[in-house]
Amino acid sequence: MTVTDPGAAAVELAGLTLANPVLVASGCGGTGRELAAYGPLADLGGFVTRSISLNARPGGPLPRIVETPSGLLHAVGMQNPGLDHFLATELPWLAQQGTRVVVSIVGGSLGEYAELARRLGRSPGVSAIEVNLSSPDAPGTGVFDVREPFHAASVVAAVHRDLPRGIPVLAKIRTDVVRVVESARGVLDAGADAVVVGNALPAAMPDGRPAGLSGPAVRPLALRCVTEVREQLPEAQLVGAGGIACADDVRSFLAAGAVAVQIGTALLHDPTAAARAVADLRGAP
Ligand SMILES: Cc1cc2nc3c(=O)[nH]c(=O)nc-3n(C[C@H](O)[C@H](O)[C@H](O)COP(=O)(O)O)c2cc1C
Repeated sequence: MTVTDPGAAAVELAGLTLANPVLVASGCGGTGRELAAYGPLADLGGFVTRSISLNARPGGPLPRIVETPSGLLHAVGMQNPGLDHFLATELPWLAQQGTRVVVSIVGGSLGEYAELARRLGRSPGVSAIEVNLSSPDAPGTGVFDVREPFHAASVVAAVHRDLPRGIPVLAKIRTDVVRVVESARGVLDAGADAVVVGNALPAAMPDGRPAGLSGPAVRPLALRCVTEVREQLPEAQLVGAGGIACADDVRSFLAAGAVAVQIGTALLHDPTAAARAVADLRGAP
């Protein structure tokens, strides 16, 4: 197949070569097996796992997902099986799929983040660690409070200190237009190799529970944030995320200065969205 769009070519992110710039966003591709039923993960630039914590988290009460006219509200509460289970069952399978495996981590304290970094950094098949510093439904879930940019920087410093050399750190920050540059600068100074901009926006379920808003509604905000960080921190390596669903969206974020992008909510509507974006960038008929 002829590569007709530079957006489909391999990219260098944080010292890693990705087959193309399109990754699956955290929490939106299940364990990987669910998505692999629709096509090989190796066709993608990378797969970011749901956020993994030291101990298993049961997640929040139902309903956890509510549709809005222009996006998705979710309050999953970072349900995950915990590190031991992930290392024993999910990672070995993911590591064999021929794609870059980025493990997203979330912790209740700096010590937990450090332990996650140490153990994952020694685990075969982990290409990079993504530090979730922007969970929109974190209040009340026992996750380390990173509302202030300096808190986010302290988490990255703890992870960076304890992670074996050679495993890059991606810091996933909020698409908070007012403070995104300050946050990005803080995590880069603390040792992040690249910045993911960003997560779902803080919102509320109809019953008032903290939730995240993702999908088409947040795309223009995420694009604005990528643009601002690129202007203020031209050396920073950025990964765009938020409402990206197709090849044209990918092109917008790459043109704004992102090295790579993540596709999340779109996969819940169409599990082939990321693979289709890659194929369209390649100019597949
Ligand atoms: C159902 C669901 C679960 C998510 N779980 C996580 C998670 O565990 N960790 C994380 O960092 N982001 C999580 N996210 C956020 C996405 O990775 C992504 O950053 C955000 O939704 C914005 O991109 P999108 O609009 O393409 O989904 C989740 C999003 C959704 C919709």
